[in-house]
Amino acid sequence: MAKNTAPRAPGSEETYAMTPERIRDMEAHAETQGRTIVTVAVIHARSAQVVGFSDLQISEFRPHVAYQQWSAVTSGHRRRGLGRSLKARLTRTLIEDRPGVRIVCTDNAEDNASVRAINTELGFRPIRTGHRYHGLRDCGPSWPSAGFAGARAS
Ligand SMILES: CC(C)(COP(=O)(O)OP(=O)(O)OC[C@H]1O[C@@H](n2cnc3c(N)ncnc32)[C@H](O)[C@@H]1OP(=O)(O)O)[C@@H](O)C(=O)NCCC(=O)NCCS
Repeated sequence: MAKNTAPRAPGSEETYAMTPERIRDMEAHAETQGRTIVTVAVIHARSAQVVGFSDLQISEFRPHVAYQQWSAVTSGHRRRGLGRSLKARLTRTLIEDRPGVRIVCTDNAEDNASVRAINTELGFRPIRTGHRYHGLRDCGPSWPSAGFAGARAS
């Protein structure tokens, strides 16, 4: 899946295989915790395949904040503006359907130039930098990840 091509921590072998069942499970689980998942996807007309998606979550306990989750476009469809359009469409959906949301939070690996470029273009601004540690046993290298947050345009 496209998500697996995101920059990852050295040595990380985590991979994702998303299926309709897994997505339904995730949505049902989120609902039990008062979270709503909002997803936009782009479907390639000729093949009828989903070639990109972007999603975020909103908690009923903090309804003014949306948490951006994943965005991905399959390799053969990149650099055609789909990633930008998906995230812009997701923001538009928030403005139209969730007027209570004032802030969108996300975090990205520092070396993920593509998504950082899109986020900057959409108005996200860095607020803090943190480290995520992988591989508890070998205490491998830490991996810097830049935090972004953007106040939503209304
Ligand atoms: C991030 C991702 C979704 C971008 O999708 P995309 O459809 O290729 O992006 P776009 O074509 O809309 O690119 C928009 C802008 O981002 C920047 N950009 C995109 N890819 C880039 C790259 N590889 N290097 C540098 N800048 C890049 C450019 O400024 C580009 O605008 P331009 O093409 O007009 O110059 C895609 O690269 C991807 O799926 N990556 C793997 C998964 C991932 O890392 N997701 C993000 C973490 S959640």
